[in-house]
Amino acid sequence: MGGLIPHNRPLITAEDRSAVDAVLASGWLAQGPAVEALEASIVAQYRGGGACAVSSGTAALFLALKALGAVADSIVAMPTYACSALLNAVFMARAIPRVLDVLPDSFCLDPDALKAQAADARFVIAVHTFGAGADVEALQADGRIVIEDCCQSLGGMNGGVPLGAAGDAAVFSFYATKLITGGQGGLVWSRTVAEKVRDYRQFDGRETYDPRFNFQLTDLQAALANSQLKRLDLIRARRAAIAGAYLAALPKGLKTQGDPCAPGRMAHRFVVVAPDRAVRDRLRRHMQAAGVECIVPVERFELLHRYLRLDAAGYPTAEKLADTTLSLPLHLGLSDADVATISDALAQFKP
Ligand SMILES: Cc1ncc(COP(=O)(O)O)c(C=O)c1O
Repeated sequence: MGGLIPHNRPLITAEDRSAVDAVLASGWLAQGPAVEALEASIVAQYRGGGACAVSSGTAALFLALKALGAVADSIVAMPTYACSALLNAVFMARAIPRVLDVLPDSFCLDPDALKAQAADARFVIAVHTFGAGADVEALQADGRIVIEDCCQSLGGMNGGVPLGAAGDAAVFSFYATKLITGGQGGLVWSRTVAEKVRDYRQFDGRETYDPRFNFQLTDLQAALANSQLKRLDLIRARRAAIAGAYLAALPKGLKTQGDPCAPGRMAHRFVVVAPDRAVRDRLRRHMQAAGVECIVPVERFELLHRYLRLDAAGYPTAEKLADTTLSLPLHLGLSDADVATISDALAQFKP
């Protein structure tokens, strides 16, 4: 057997290469027509609103917060089972994070925890974790401003409506392990504040001075991301097919994060939930021995309440998820033979 089947690997097609080549040949590498084309594709996807491409998902979160009016001391609720980019963006906006527990099935922010423990939060970052939809409507109660974090859910649908369309803004990442990639990159989509984000994105050539920054995406990155975005339906279908193969092979005694094959779901990851840590660790060793690299999607030390040194007893669901979950390879770089190897190994595991 060759090396391990990697947990993640981007697929770069001949069309992707031609799109990047065209930018190289044009002589215009910085933000330009390819960035505009990427933004137009997202606006078309969302049937309106405005889109502003930026340098990363973290930048998109920061800019969305700023554009929606988060100021020093604004309270921003967020799930603890999430990427530390959320904390970074909130601190950069000089706001105050309010970290909350998640739901055991979707791994998304628990609306009851929001109501009970963060009634003073005016802002919420709702992460659609690994493609599973957060309950945006419940999080919007009491007039809260909701940023939908679609970094792991681009292309996901909820009843025919794209995830991200219900909140005040949606943010995306085009990092290498995301659903489509430019290597790095991000984007803010919003019906109301995309132009505010655009104003802050670059500082050059302005008639009046206001503090602004350089959060631009290059045309090289945008051309790659936009080329992949054109395949979004194919990407969703291929990911659903791979998730379906794993689901069919899943031994009794193991569960998944919600239904990875639910209609419209963009299966960003296939996360197995074991009954306890010992079984999870044994599954990881079993898969490794079969030539399959699996990862713990969020380690215990990465939980945001731990970074903030908050009492872990207040976050029982996230603590349990960190101990019991394992993510299988799910990406476009997998061949049918890889998917068969992974499914067979999974089917042979005895929990
Ligand atoms: C849910 C979520 N939000 C935000 C980010 C930040 O994106 P980026 O790495 O592009 O800054 C990521 C990924 O790292 C993420 O998974």
